[in-house]
Amino acid sequence: MMKQLLAINASRIVNSILLLIGLVFFKPLAYFVALMMFFAGLTNYCLMEKILQRFGFQNTCSTMAGQAEMQVYDAKTHWEKVYQTKKSNEVSWYQEKPKTSLKLIGEIGLDKNSEIIDVGAGDSKLVDNLLDLGFKNITVLDISPTALNRAKKRLGNQMKSVKWVVSDLRAFETKDRYDLWHDRAVLHFLTEEEDISKYAEKVKQLLKPNGYLIVSAFSENGPKRCSGLDIKQYSEHSIKKIFSGLEHIKSFEEEHATPWGARQIFICSVLRKGGKK
Ligand SMILES: C[S@@+](CC[C@H](N)C(=O)[O-])C[C@H]1O[C@@H](n2cnc3c(N)ncnc32)[C@H](O)[C@@H]1O
Repeated sequence: MMKQLLAINASRIVNSILLLIGLVFFKPLAYFVALMMFFAGLTNYCLMEKILQRFGFQNTCSTMAGQAEMQVYDAKTHWEKVYQTKKSNEVSWYQEKPKTSLKLIGEIGLDKNSEIIDVGAGDSKLVDNLLDLGFKNITVLDISPTALNRAKKRLGNQMKSVKWVVSDLRAFETKDRYDLWHDRAVLHFLTEEEDISKYAEKVKQLLKPNGYLIVSAFSENGPKRCSGLDIKQYSEHSIKKIFSGLEHIKSFEEEHATPWGARQIFICSVLRKGGKK
């Protein structure tokens, strides 16, 4: 908790110290220093974050938008602000290529006509890669229209062959059923027990018989917060528990490097729904 507070306020603390030094020792420079640090604090919060992470504060992955949203969490407002203020490669979860997801999808050996949904996809490049691999029935869901619009723009004409859904996944209803439910870095933002159990029920309900769940969430060795939000950490044991009823195929820990070099440990799991086709 102390580390969190320090990380959040460090930019302001450094600004104040420098201003104080300026006032005491270099009066003529004081206003200049104050002005420079004010703008540095405003425009380059990430730099401060990187420096803090170098010194061991790697359990934060805050964004400026996240800071503003810490008091009252409205999911849609929060995520819209993130995607409106950050470029794709300025968020901690950015991946140039979602290699682990692609590897796991390859191992499952899905038919190209399989129904795949990527929930909380943001502007992830998983959809681009799946299209390149020839998958024909992809649904991409996110609470942020800005994130989805970014992905659509990147895909150009190809975006027409994807089903785009703007929805809070907690309220998502559909008649569709899926061969694969993919979730990277979304489940851990559900912190209410009720939301988590509803999520698990939804996965079980919307998966076809023999359908797969690939889920990656922060591990118990991973971050405790992300994007200015509390998260829930997972282990193989807790994943098995919340998705009881699905067959657990495997779980493993994976280290993700953020664009600024911080390390985050995820637990990646593959589960399968039983039943006849
Ligand atoms: C950490 S990002 C991960 C994005 C993507 N899965 C990836 O791996 O690049 C979390 C994403 O989940 C979305 N999200 C968060 N809460 C959501 C909710 N309740 N319903 C739908 N999407 C949500 C956010 O908009 C954001 O795009």
